[in-house]
Amino acid sequence: MTAIKGILLAGGTGSRLYPLTSVVTKQMLPVYDKPLLYYPLATLMLAGIREILVISTPEDQPNYQRLLGDGGQLGLSLSYAVQTQPNGIAEALLIGQSFLAGNRVMLILGDNIFFGHGLQPILHAARENTDGATIFAYWVPDPQRFGVVDLDEDGNPTAISEKPENPRSHYAVTGLYFYDHRACEIAAGLKPSARGELEITDINRRYLELGDLSVHRLQRGFAWLDAGTPDALLDAANYVATLERRQGLKIGCIEEIAWRAGWINAGDLERLAAPIKHVDYGRYLLSLLAE
Ligand code: G1P
Repeated sequence: MTAIKGILLAGGTGSRLYPLTSVVTKQMLPVYDKPLLYYPLATLMLAGIREILVISTPEDQPNYQRLLGDGGQLGLSLSYAVQTQPNGIAEALLIGQSFLAGNRVMLILGDNIFFGHGLQPILHAARENTDGATIFAYWVPDPQRFGVVDLDEDGNPTAISEKPENPRSHYAVTGLYFYDHRACEIAAGLKPSARGELEITDINRRYLELGDLSVHRLQRGFAWLDAGTPDALLDAANYVATLERRQGLKIGCIEEIAWRAGWINAGDLERLAAPIKHVDYGRYLLSLLAE
């Protein structure tokens, strides 16, 4: 059986957030108490994935390396690659081809936040599905902003399209994708779309045509937030702040996830907390050790 590796795509210009993103890349912007990128990284970690390729623009790559290093401090193995032009999400599979080396992949977009009861079992079920692709559908009032999947009565996909003008379904396709070993080969055969990008939706459509696309519907009560606009970014921050303050537990806390998974020990966690022990985040990490 092939292994599974992770790709975190943090490219793009973030133009819908200018001037916020004229100097700082979108995925480094704060979502309440941590950079946006922590949340999708946490989702990869909750799926149990430790070998991860971070793809970014050439300008931003040194900053990601400063932020996350080689991942060893979190029990991860991180590597880095660049996407020189915003050529589309599917290009991540070509950039990551040698990293993946024929293995399966969990691909997540650097601006997608997932949170909800039962997330971990959902991720584990998807990673155990070794044949085909698994994507996640989420009911939204404004599907034309997203990839959209049509589902039949049994919840099976019948069609998929990218930002359709007249969507036939309210189910947006989230920025989280599990693919078997065929994804790179499929990506290599793609042609750029009308907007000049290699579309992830075209990869998903190919799996659909092959009869190998599973769609998991995320239920009500589950949060899927993208931080693509100032309002979405603020909503995400307020959402995280409300839950964290009310429950006293952090969302997207990569150090905590690594520690709970047993990838780092108490001493490692203490070392990570030490330089920031005078701020809430560091105190939180130390409080975990007192549990
Ligand atoms: C991309 C995908 C789209 C998906 C969305 C999720 O859109 O092309 O299919 O629904 O991510 O965040 P973009 O954010 O590039 O407009």
